[in-house]
Amino acid sequence: MCGIVSYIGYRPAYDVLIKGLKRLEYRGYDSAGLALIDNQGKLNIYKAKGRVSDLENTIKNQDCIGTVGIAHTRWATHGEPSVKNAHPHCSQSGHLTLIHNGIIENYTSIKQHLLEKGFTFKSDTDTEVLVQLIEYKMLTYDLDLVEGTKSALKHVIGAYAIVVLDDRNPSQLVAARKSSPLVIGIGEGQEEYFLASDVTPIVEYTDQVIYLDDERIAVIERGKDLYISDLENHRQIPDIQRIDVELGQIEKGNYSHYMLKEITEQPRVIADCMRGRISPDRKHIILSAVIDYGYLLVKAKRIIIVACGTSWHAGLIGKQLIEEFCRIPVMVEYASEFRYSNPVVGPDDVVIAISQSGETADTLAAVELAKEKGAFIFGICNAVGSSIPRATNTGCYIHVGPEIGVASTKAFTGQVTVLTMFALALGEKLGALDQAKYEEVIAELVTIPEKMKQTIERNEVVKKLSYVFTYARNFIYLGRGYAYPVALEGALKLKEISYIHAEGYPAAEMKHGPIALIDKEMPVVCIATSNGQYEKVISNIQEIKARDGRVIAIVSDSDTQIRKIADDVIDIPSTIECLDPLLTVIPLQILSYYVAVLKGLDVDMPRNLAKSVTVE
Ligand code: G6P
Repeated sequence: MCGIVSYIGYRPAYDVLIKGLKRLEYRGYDSAGLALIDNQGKLNIYKAKGRVSDLENTIKNQDCIGTVGIAHTRWATHGEPSVKNAHPHCSQSGHLTLIHNGIIENYTSIKQHLLEKGFTFKSDTDTEVLVQLIEYKMLTYDLDLVEGTKSALKHVIGAYAIVVLDDRNPSQLVAARKSSPLVIGIGEGQEEYFLASDVTPIVEYTDQVIYLDDERIAVIERGKDLYISDLENHRQIPDIQRIDVELGQIEKGNYSHYMLKEITEQPRVIADCMRGRISPDRKHIILSAVIDYGYLLVKAKRIIIVACGTSWHAGLIGKQLIEEFCRIPVMVEYASEFRYSNPVVGPDDVVIAISQSGETADTLAAVELAKEKGAFIFGICNAVGSSIPRATNTGCYIHVGPEIGVASTKAFTGQVTVLTMFALALGEKLGALDQAKYEEVIAELVTIPEKMKQTIERNEVVKKLSYVFTYARNFIYLGRGYAYPVALEGALKLKEISYIHAEGYPAAEMKHGPIALIDKEMPVVCIATSNGQYEKVISNIQEIKARDGRVIAIVSDSDTQIRKIADDVIDIPSTIECLDPLLTVIPLQILSYYVAVLKGLDVDMPRNLAKSVTVE
């Protein structure tokens, strides 16, 4: 939540900052702002409520000169979205300017203290409190910006990634992080530096980056080496890494929305996700994390999956895969509930943390807690170098490339693909899975990218259906077994971007409540492939039809029965039951996409949401 970007170098900073903000807009789009120091050393601040494009419109006739600046796109936490609350925020003297991603939890008591010292505040934000506190420390103890920032941060409880600029010393930026991400890009000859919440604003200029470690402060000066230390002045040698993201991966290309691009990419990225992880003879899964740590994983008495949102749905599928192939009991917990439930977890447990962004605050906190209690932590993440993979003992990246659309699509199928390979690899190690089954699943897994492609090619059917249902007020999604988490995910997609109320239910549970909602106005999406409890799903569909419900069924090509009773059918290629979710979810993604487009909604930036939830 919230995106920050900063630049110091020789280029016009405005261009770097605006482009960077656009790339980070998925993190929040309530307001945006930037601060630049012009060639005469004057600090200029520009802010607008709304999107980055609103900021551009606000300042389009101004010069915006300068080669150093900081910028921010906001997802409101403290204080409504408004110009007053937009970042950057200034200190009382007007010399210090600061951008912040995160939450200062104890800002009320700090603010009270500063009020007593005569400070006044212009916004309702926690961030303004921090910049004022830095100034207070500098003035009271005669400190420079670096020492003042360190001193202030020692009082802060909460999460932050910040960049501070002092207009009296425009050749320096001071940055720090705790529990919120911050990446530093290093330009040629150290003549320029970039700072951002992720690598997307940086990738165009340099491939050399440092993922700032937690609780570190960085002093950045044009033409000089970076100085990184902890708050106690212990210097750290920077670990410079190469970014493996290319510009094409983060641009929309010819697609009207990132979400459509990312849905369409699934055949290719799922092949990428499997690349090198399936032996050429297709008889083995080669996951280095399972090879290296297999001796520990096989001892797990229990596996606990922690995740949020779509990743949690992938976790529910992971539970079924692991229990089927490994015969180890698996619990799937919302990370936010897990961390505050005084969980029974210890050295006999393996905790799997699933997160696309690798930055979700609750998932990260759940990982830290489980680690403290002695569990072994395995991460399944997408964003390379992000906080969760760095906090785990080991793990697998899903390698589906940057996901920018706020509604997660390819990350879900990537997570399910990695969970499938994990369950197969561990099941084989444990001897819980017979060789024939192991090879059958691998052989089928390899065909999935092609079947995904066929599924996407049929999107016209789904598009036509979306016309019919654009103005539906409610939806029910039903599935059993492996299809149940897909029902939840389909309902979530519709809610997120189409703002239509939708509920996912295990099909058999319908009788215990939701059936009361069914009438001829109620579209019911049934995930009803020919696998699993097919006959039982047919009975559930009959129950809906008997009450005049309108059934949209996702069926296998080979289906003969459901197509006779459902009102509408969406065919998908046949596969084995445990791999069905990789295909059945695609028409549900497409349905929600077209419904949102037909309603004229902003698919990539749905209201109130943010892609990376770095606050609790
Ligand atoms: C937000 C996003 C969802 C995502 C969830 C978990 O709610 O909008 O798309 O599933 O966070 O994010 P993570 O990055 O941990 O998978």
